[in-house]
Amino acid sequence: MFADGNMFAGLFAAHAAGPLFTQTLPFLLIAVAVVVGACLVIGIAGRGRAEPKSRWSLWEWLVYAATLGSVTILAVTSFGALLVNGHLGSWALFFHMVGAGAFVFTLPVLAVTWCEPSCFDLRRYGERGQTAPPRFYWLPKLMFWVVLPAGWIVSMTMLVSMLPLLGTEGLNSMTDLHRWSGLIVVAAVALHLSGVVLQRIGRR
Ligand code: HEM
Repeated sequence: MFADGNMFAGLFAAHAAGPLFTQTLPFLLIAVAVVVGACLVIGIAGRGRAEPKSRWSLWEWLVYAATLGSVTILAVTSFGALLVNGHLGSWALFFHMVGAGAFVFTLPVLAVTWCEPSCFDLRRYGERGQTAPPRFYWLPKLMFWVVLPAGWIVSMTMLVSMLPLLGTEGLNSMTDLHRWSGLIVVAAVALHLSGVVLQRIGRR
C-alpha cells in the first residue's frame, strides 16, 4: 500500500494520535488547568462552610496516593509524548506501561476503599441524625463516579486491543476511545484532588 520510503511514513501515520485529539490536546489541557484553578480560587476566596474534617486511615491515604501517582505517570508519559513527539513510543511507552500496571491494579482497590464515602446521601438534612463528618463534598463524590467508569474504559480499550478480536478499524476506534477516556480520567482526578485540598485546608 505504501510505496518504498513512504512505507514507514504510512506505518507511522497509522500509529500517530488521531488528528483531532493531537490538535486539540494543548487547549483541552489548558481548559482542565483553568477549571481546576478556578475551583481552587473560588473555594479559597469563598466563605467555606468550616465543616469538621474527617480522618483518613493510612490505607485510605495509600490508595489515594497510588491512584494519583499512577494517573500522573500515565498522563505525563502519554500527553507529554504526544505534545513533544506526536506519538507515544520508546521510553515514554515503557513508563506508560509501568503506570498502566499500577493503575489497573489500583482502580478496583480504589473502588472498594472509597465507594461508601463517595455515595450521595439522599436523605433530607433533618432525617440524617448523628453522622460522622462527610469524607467528601459533592465535587469529589461526583468525580469519583466519573473516574470509575472512565478508568474502566481506558483500561479495557487496551486490554481488548491485545486480544486477536479486532481488525484495523476496530483497533483505531479502541485507541481513540482510550485517548478520550484517558483525558476524562486525568481531568476528573485533578478536580477530585482540588476538592480534597479545599476540604483539607478547611474551605469546605
Ligand atoms: C489515565 C490513564 C491513561 C491515559 C491518560 C492514557 C493515555 C494514552 C494516550 C494519549 C495514548 C497515545 C495514543 C496514541 O498514540 O495516539 C496512549 C497509548 C497507550 N496506552 Fe494509555 N492511557 C492511560 C491508561 C492506560 C492503561 C490503564 C493502559 C493499559 C491497560 C494503557 C495502555 C496503553 C498502550 C498499550 C498504548 C499504546 C497504544 C498504541 O500505540 O497503539 N494506557 N495512552
